[in-house]
Amino acid sequence: MSDLKYLSGFGSEFSSEDPRCPNSLPKGQNSPQICPYGLYAEQLSGSAFTAPRSDNKRSWLYRILPSVGHKPFQSFSEGNFDSKWQETKPNPNQLRWNPFDLPSETRDFVQGIYTICGTGDPKLRLGLAIHIYSCNTSMKNRAFYNSDGDFLIVPQQGKLLVKTEFGKLQVSPNEICVIQQGMRFQVLVSEACRGYILEVYGRHFSLPDLGPIGANGLANPRDFQSPVAHFEDIQGEFEIVSKYQGSLFVCSQDHSPFDVVAWHGNYVPYKYDLANFMVVNSVSFDHCDPSIFTVLTCQSEKPGTAIADFVIFPPRWSVQENTFRPPYYHRNCMSEFMGLISGRYEAKQGGFLPGGATLHSIMTPHGPDVDCFEKASKEELKPARIAEGSQGFMFESCLGLALTEWGAKTCKKLDAGYHKCWEGLRRNFTGAK
Ligand code: FE2
Repeated sequence: MSDLKYLSGFGSEFSSEDPRCPNSLPKGQNSPQICPYGLYAEQLSGSAFTAPRSDNKRSWLYRILPSVGHKPFQSFSEGNFDSKWQETKPNPNQLRWNPFDLPSETRDFVQGIYTICGTGDPKLRLGLAIHIYSCNTSMKNRAFYNSDGDFLIVPQQGKLLVKTEFGKLQVSPNEICVIQQGMRFQVLVSEACRGYILEVYGRHFSLPDLGPIGANGLANPRDFQSPVAHFEDIQGEFEIVSKYQGSLFVCSQDHSPFDVVAWHGNYVPYKYDLANFMVVNSVSFDHCDPSIFTVLTCQSEKPGTAIADFVIFPPRWSVQENTFRPPYYHRNCMSEFMGLISGRYEAKQGGFLPGGATLHSIMTPHGPDVDCFEKASKEELKPARIAEGSQGFMFESCLGLALTEWGAKTCKKLDAGYHKCWEGLRRNFTGAK
C-alpha cells in the first residue's frame, strides 16, 4: 500500500500533517483563534491532565469537524463483549481451547469480538479482558472506539488494515498493534481473519525497564511505528460504535470521523513487528524467567507487578548446558493466558494449536507434557534452534481471571481432556539410600 507511511519510536512526541495540506499544523500553539485550512482543534487526553510528565499522554487533532457533531447514542445489539464474569463459577483447572472458529457468516471486526475471560470493572478503570476476534468483512461506514481502555490486538490469521483518526496501520500476523482508549478506528479486511485482543482498563502499555540488560534489547523503541496523518473528506451517514462501561452503544453522524488533517502529541496508536524482538536468554545453564521475553507491560501500582504483560516465545537459539531446557514445571501467583500465532509451542507435543489458547490460573500447576519431558530429558544438549517457524505468546496478569459464558460454554472449544497430557508422568525416583 503506497499510502502507508509510519513514524518510529515508542512514546515519542510526534507531529504529522497529511502531505495534501502542508502547514496545517498550527505553529507555536495548540489552539489558535483560527486554525490553518479552517480546521477545528480538539485534544484527546489519554491521562489525567495532572499526571506526572513521564505518564502524561495527550494529542491534538486538527480536523474538518470536531467529534462532538453526532446524534445521541443508542444501545447497539450486534456485539458480543461481556464483562459479567462474576456470574460464572470460578474454575481452577488447566484449560485449553481448540482453535476458535472463523466466521461462517458475514461478520465485521466489531461484530466478531467475543470475550473469553477477564476481571475487574471497566467502571472502576481496573482490570482487563481477553477477547477473540473472528471476522471476514470490512467495517462499512462504521468506526469503533473503546471508552473503557486500550486494545492490544494480536492477529493470528489474515491481514488487518486499521484506519484510525491518526492515519492507517497495516497489521499482519506476527505483528501487533495498540489502539488506545478513545481512538476511533475502522478495520478493513479482504480475507477471513482471527486473532486475540488484550484489553486493559486503567493504565497504558509501556516498555519494560531493562535493568542490567542495558540500553538495548528486547523490544527497541525505534521499531514501534505510528501512522502518518491521512484524512478523508466524506459526507454521508456514518456509525460510531462505542464500548462504554462494558456495553456497546452506537450513534450516527453525517461525515467520516477520519477527517484529521494534522496532529501532534504522544498519545497515538502504534504497531510492532514481533520479528524485531531482540531475544535475551541464558548462555550458561538454567532458565531466565519468561519475563525476559516481555514486549510490553501494563504495570499495576505495585512495583514490578503487571496488570498485564505481553510476552512472546519467538524463534531463538537454546544453548544452556546441563539443563532441562523446555519451560519448567510451574505454579504461579499470576494468571497465564497463552495463544499461538503460528507453528508449534515448545513445551507441548500436540493439542495446543494456532488460533487456540490455554489458561493456567493463579497457583494452577502446569508445565511440559509427558512426551516433552521424556524427550528433553534425554536429548543431547547441542546448541539448537527452538520455536523455529513458531510464535507463541502469553498475557500474564497479577489478577485472577474468570471465564465468560462464551469462553466456558458457547464457543464449544474447551478441550475436556487437556489434563491427560500430564497423566503419564512416570515416577523416576531412585529411592532413599
Ligand atoms: Fe508458567
